[in-house]
Amino acid sequence: MRAVVYEEYGGTDVLEMREVPTPVPGPGEVLVEVVATSINLSDWENLRGTPAYARVGGMRRPRHTILGSDIAGRVAAVGDGATRFGAGDAVFGDNLSHGNGGFAEFAVMPESALAPKPARLSFVEASALPQAGAIAAQAVALAAPGSRMLINGAGGGSGSLAIQLAVAEGVHVTAVDNERKLDYLRTLGAEEAIDYRSDDFTRTGRYDLIVDLVAHRSIFAYRRALARGGRCVVVGGTARALLRMTTVGPLLGLLTGARLGVLFVRQGPRQFEQVAQRCASGEIEVRIDRVFALDEVPEALAWHGEGRALGKVVVAVREA
Ligand SMILES: NC(=O)c1ccc[n+]([C@@H]2O[C@H](COP(=O)([O-])OP(=O)(O)OC[C@H]3O[C@@H](n4cnc5c(N)ncnc54)[C@H](OP(=O)(O)O)[C@@H]3O)[C@@H](O)[C@H]2O)c1
Repeated sequence: MRAVVYEEYGGTDVLEMREVPTPVPGPGEVLVEVVATSINLSDWENLRGTPAYARVGGMRRPRHTILGSDIAGRVAAVGDGATRFGAGDAVFGDNLSHGNGGFAEFAVMPESALAPKPARLSFVEASALPQAGAIAAQAVALAAPGSRMLINGAGGGSGSLAIQLAVAEGVHVTAVDNERKLDYLRTLGAEEAIDYRSDDFTRTGRYDLIVDLVAHRSIFAYRRALARGGRCVVVGGTARALLRMTTVGPLLGLLTGARLGVLFVRQGPRQFEQVAQRCASGEIEVRIDRVFALDEVPEALAWHGEGRALGKVVVAVREA
């Protein structure tokens, strides 16, 4: 099969289209004929091997050499003991914990990571939802109706869904991202939109909940921006910021009455299926910015990394 492979951490120039053996599903696994794979920040992080947690699977070289974790496609074969799906079923899921593999014509995934694709969603749309949907749903579950929530890194895949889910719950959302995305954030329902390159969101008000998808601030800065009894969770960001949040965060919280910590996102169909159903019913929107072909994976990653995408960037591996 054709696959986009990398064997060392680096920029998009380390990616190479190659002919590699089609993987074989083991017990409990499914071979998926990939139709579409969306790009997440984790792909970019795993390509470059930074932040440090991106090297958990291989300190010097990537252990899994094909990126692309958010996969939508059709079941091509099933391994021993895999009973939930049969050949030809349309499925989607997040393969982040199982070696990724979506920038290829076929990928092996545990059947437990997969859900049936809603008929009303295209493969491109479905591929945009597993990781971002799970993050958005779990972040918004922490917000109470009528409360003030700030989302930093709000213009990306998870943030775009989180804004809409929060607004649907009656939460007042302030969204932070770069200047080019501010109108987009307002169209998603954000009451206020802040440019992170010119304003410091930790000095713009007090929030009941702060969700930071790209954290790099000190815990004191977050604490300053929290209302009494407020909560701050970081989801991704620099290793330093995540470490500070796990170690000093709870301590500072004990002293000040605020709650500061890391949101460890649970994966799997139960975490994203409901969001997908709400997208399928038209209640919330899955925004697709651009669709690239498999041999354009380096361009797709660069487009995502350049900060111009308004919505998800997707790689369409084959015709639906
Ligand atoms: N905790 C867990 O269990 C878990 C699990 C999976 C994933 N994650 C993490 O969750 C995060 C999900 O992100 P995503 O996929 O939604 O990312 P994304 O689509 O890349 O969106 C990130 C957004 O943040 C913006 N941004 C970049 N630097 C910023 C800054 N300094 N201040 C404010 N905004 C900034 C980006 O804009 P620009 O275009 O300007 O760069 C982009 O719009 C990732 O960090 C990932 O590693 C965590």
